[in-house]
Amino acid sequence: MASDSAAADRFRFNPYIPAFDADPFPAYQRLRDEFPAFWSEEAGMWVLSRYDDVLAALQDWRTYSSAQGNLVDELPGRAGATLGSSDPPRHDRMRALIQKAMLKSALEHVIEPLREAARGHTAKLAGRKSFDFVAEYSAPLTLDLIFALFDLPGEQRETVREKAVLMTQTDPELRGKGPSQLAAYGWMAEFAAQLVAERKRNPGSDLLSNFITAEIDGESLLDREVQLTVTTLIMAGIESMSGFLSMLGYNLAAMPDVRRALAADPSLIPDAIEESLRFNTSAQRFRRCLTRDIELHGQPMKAGDFVMLCYGSANRDNRKFVDPDHYDLARKPKGHLGFGGGVHACLGSALARLACKVAMEEWLAAMPDFSLATDTLSWIPSSNFRSPKSLIVNAFRLS
Ligand code: HEM
Repeated sequence: MASDSAAADRFRFNPYIPAFDADPFPAYQRLRDEFPAFWSEEAGMWVLSRYDDVLAALQDWRTYSSAQGNLVDELPGRAGATLGSSDPPRHDRMRALIQKAMLKSALEHVIEPLREAARGHTAKLAGRKSFDFVAEYSAPLTLDLIFALFDLPGEQRETVREKAVLMTQTDPELRGKGPSQLAAYGWMAEFAAQLVAERKRNPGSDLLSNFITAEIDGESLLDREVQLTVTTLIMAGIESMSGFLSMLGYNLAAMPDVRRALAADPSLIPDAIEESLRFNTSAQRFRRCLTRDIELHGQPMKAGDFVMLCYGSANRDNRKFVDPDHYDLARKPKGHLGFGGGVHACLGSALARLACKVAMEEWLAAMPDFSLATDTLSWIPSSNFRSPKSLIVNAFRLS
């Protein structure tokens, strides 16, 4: 299975080393330039890193299947049952139902309350010299959004966040999900089951109720599909949103020119969101399983082999983007893979774009000037996501 070249034997790609996410980009570059189809012993799967290869895989779900699960380290029982872990036609049926539910729960319904919540969080920071952007802004604001979207019980806020964050993590020693991640998943599945049962008895106008009652051609979702999809939506919504918002905060703290440009002209915020999705998105790596033997860049790959698709690397490919390691606010990157692509492209992308815009508008109105307070960051241990555990920033001015 392993590549037979001597160079490939020396090169290792191990996303389980805790320090890997401090700077994965040099390893991605070597992969793209020297080992475009690389067998990683540590991950136990092939790694695709070039833009064209990742895009081609996303567009060919028949060969690159999600039905064995799309998380690099999959959770038990999810394979084949949720949106992200199933193939068409089953996937399309579920996706159409959720899209219908998402449309019904008009996004404005959650966006204005989100703006109010953002103002509440920044108001609490007035007068402070430094604070944690993750613990005091991106994480609580994401909870405001997801709790409003699903109308979740407020008293469970902290537990739900703790479990959602744990579920996306990986045990670096075990190179997979460990006991605490599995226990968190069990808790969330039980939480989702109770919610689904309760909404069936008392349906409301939230996304979850719409989702349970949505029908296409008289067909609704099976209980298990609803429950596992709700579990995944809460996990995906919380970690993806809060992780990406944290990366936006990080970019603005680390790049004063960009921050000043946005503070002076907030209409540029959507451009910063797109460039951040390209430059250093939080959703870095997802998994597929080959359904047939193929050969790519001279490497024979077998049916049943897992393949890691590195969106974070594809977005830095100079075969696709000019000067890709440069953050260019004026770039307006077409075709970036920050939200994936093909049939599994992120279903929450419109909501996420809108929510990030509101979050950054409110943050920059209160805090046009801030900087990183530490030289080093610690990153959540995850084979899929890259985002800081905390982001301590110094305030220059908070009105
Ligand atoms: C900025 C924040 C977000 C980012 C960067 C992000 C990123 C992604 C990516 C890369 C995928 C593709 C996964 C794959 O290829 O297997 C995905 C799928 C998905 N995302 Fe997001 N996401 C974000 C926010 C959200 C939110 C807020 C929700 C919902 C509340 C959501 C729901 C989903 C769902 C349901 C899928 C699976 C779609 C399918 O398989 O058809 N995401 N997301």
